[in-house]
Amino acid sequence: MFPGADVRPGRVMHMSTARIVFDRWDGRYAERMGAIRSSAVRDLFAAASRPDIISLSGGMPEVSRVPTDAVVNAATEAIREHGAEALQYGSSEGRVQLRTIIAELMAENGVRLKPDDLIVTAGAQQALDLIAKIFIDPGDVIITEGPTYLGALQAFSAYQPNVVCIPMDEGGMRVDLLEEKLRELGPRGAKFIYTIPNFQNPAGVTLTPERRRRLVELAREYDIPIVEDDPYGRLRFEGGHAKPLRALDDDVIYLGTMSKIFAPGLRLGWVAAPRPILGKILLAKQAADLCGSAYAQVTAERYFAGTRWRKVLQDLTRTYKARRDAMLEALDEHLPPEVRYTHPEGGFFVWVELPAFLDVKPLLAEAIERGVTYVPGDAFYPDGRGRNCMRLAFCFAEPDDIREGVRRLAEVLEDRLELYRAFQAAGALPDASTAKGVPA
Ligand SMILES: Cc1ncc(COP(=O)(O)O)c(C=O)c1O
Repeated sequence: MFPGADVRPGRVMHMSTARIVFDRWDGRYAERMGAIRSSAVRDLFAAASRPDIISLSGGMPEVSRVPTDAVVNAATEAIREHGAEALQYGSSEGRVQLRTIIAELMAENGVRLKPDDLIVTAGAQQALDLIAKIFIDPGDVIITEGPTYLGALQAFSAYQPNVVCIPMDEGGMRVDLLEEKLRELGPRGAKFIYTIPNFQNPAGVTLTPERRRRLVELAREYDIPIVEDDPYGRLRFEGGHAKPLRALDDDVIYLGTMSKIFAPGLRLGWVAAPRPILGKILLAKQAADLCGSAYAQVTAERYFAGTRWRKVLQDLTRTYKARRDAMLEALDEHLPPEVRYTHPEGGFFVWVELPAFLDVKPLLAEAIERGVTYVPGDAFYPDGRGRNCMRLAFCFAEPDDIREGVRRLAEVLEDRLELYRAFQAAGALPDASTAKGVPA
């Protein structure tokens, strides 16, 4: 999203990258289109693809490490040996062979379920949309972490909920604050609680085991379903494994994806849920796309039938760890003490927090000019908060580029911070250390 670009949908004029488009159909769209937010990350893709720009914005997996020979074999076998099924419509819940493999993967994670307890979706993103579709009426309260995954906000926003954000710290969602909010709202006062417990997108923090237990207890007490979104759980660099919420309570709705353990291009994810909820999701999926791609599903079955994928994932995790290390070292080296950031134990993202009065959005044009991109923090809130924060992704750039990208970013921030210090010395600003911010 570029400064000055009007990206509010439903407006007569909007700017997509550099082109201004007049929309003569404006005024005909459903009201909900006015609520759907543009994805700041997608808007940045055009700039990020310039070769001189180091992208610290997009959360793209390093697919170059996926062994193409294994995928070619899997895709070829899918057609040669299973062509009649792979090229045909399939069942809406997804192929039982793939659901069996997914159930086995979940068992390794401490979650016991049967293939019939889950549905294959077009990525976890489709599951988010289907969940929103079956649960949210306009004005309904839903609870998320603050900040939260912008794709979830985008999926939910079409159904016009009232999104309540619960702050986080290094231990993930502040369940004490959640409890306060639930008390205020009363039993069934929210339609669901959406959480990303592992290496949260965008904050990079992980929910502690104690908080996981408390979250599940609270959800039971207030009779509100939990939606657990876990794309990064297998990308742990260090620290102990924490059980998924779904392992603590069978009523948790769990979203998984192949995007980070295989490749996002196949668009394969899944949702596990109690049977009545699953039935509703299935109806919503049938309306959306009849069924997922059988070809992609058979290809994934062939890929996961081999044992090599575990080794690939191990190497990939090592690669992400080296990139995380490079980013944290560079942040330590180049950023001044007024800037705080999280220390993720896995996943793709670091969350950076500047003194409260700084707005990073207008700085993005200058950052792009200097050859680096980030995502401004307000993209991860429903209400404009997070302006003094940014999400940095370490998943896609090489360590040297990450170091250089952070150095360029520090240059952009330094001028503003100097100004900040001057104002502060003159007593014209509140102390940054007392300013309230999002997770640190
Ligand atoms: C938290 C979270 N949920 C869901 C998704 C969507 O993933 P998928 O590729 O499975 O649709 C992403 C993608 O980045 C994500 O970060």
